[in-house]
Amino acid sequence: MYRPRRRWNWESRTKRGSSADDGFERRKYRENHPVYGVPYDRIRRVRVPAAVEVAPSILAADFACLGDAIRAVEAGGVTLLHVDVMDGHFVPNISIGIPVVASLRKATRLQLDVHLMIENPERYIEAFASAGADMISVHQEATPHLDRALSMIREHGSKPGAVINPATPVVMLSEVLRKVDHVLVMSVNPGFGGQAFIPEATDKIRELRDIRERHHYSYRIAVDGGIGPENVAEVVRAGAQILVAGTSVFHTPDPAAAVREMAHLASEALAQRV
Ligand code: DX5
Ligand code: ZN
Repeated sequence: MYRPRRRWNWESRTKRGSSADDGFERRKYRENHPVYGVPYDRIRRVRVPAAVEVAPSILAADFACLGDAIRAVEAGGVTLLHVDVMDGHFVPNISIGIPVVASLRKATRLQLDVHLMIENPERYIEAFASAGADMISVHQEATPHLDRALSMIREHGSKPGAVINPATPVVMLSEVLRKVDHVLVMSVNPGFGGQAFIPEATDKIRELRDIRERHHYSYRIAVDGGIGPENVAEVVRAGAQILVAGTSVFHTPDPAAAVREMAHLASEALAQRV
């Protein structure tokens, strides 16, 4: 017998403390939940994820009308929604937190890709997972315990991802690449939307693709910052599979058309890739 109100209340879960089978419990709960479980499961079975996915970043949306923003990109066919969490310490800006993720979880069946730009991310992993994050990414620069943070994400039923800033080389992730679901390459210095793409990110994407092939790892490669129609082909040809885009989606008159265009450019670039 499940109790949705209690299970999805991150405060009560945090107070309960963590246990090794929390992730299992959470998955089981989802599978059986009348609202989230069945349709979510059906979506997973019928929707084969595209080779390249556009993940709109709601940081660039109007926070007073988040529901409208979500419906707009859903109409564009996206499967992922990127959620930027900033604490004013790790990055010089403050954005949104756990209650907003919980509200988004109720408002959409899109996968929630939560990008933690916060210090001590381990302290908040259980709360974000319980709030409904499908993917949680932590910065290599934000914790001396990256391995522990990634394990915690998986234990709590979300997909773990590691992120590197523009000044951090790929080699800093070498000990954790075997255990991540995705690697996020920052192509701007995190903290703000609307910044210019840093072209050196493309080399890192290529390097991550080469390492994955050499070691038979399975992570997906994501890129975040300054992504738009002008550089989609470049990053996709290098190996990017998740394109996080804020300004180029939500600061346009038609966000659905913007994501469709970027998805189209991505599949064209993939077809041309040698
Ligand atoms: C930056 C965030 C990005 C940001 C991207 O710190 O991590 O996700 O929203 O915004 P654009 O696409 O405008 O560069
Ligand atoms: Zn982000």
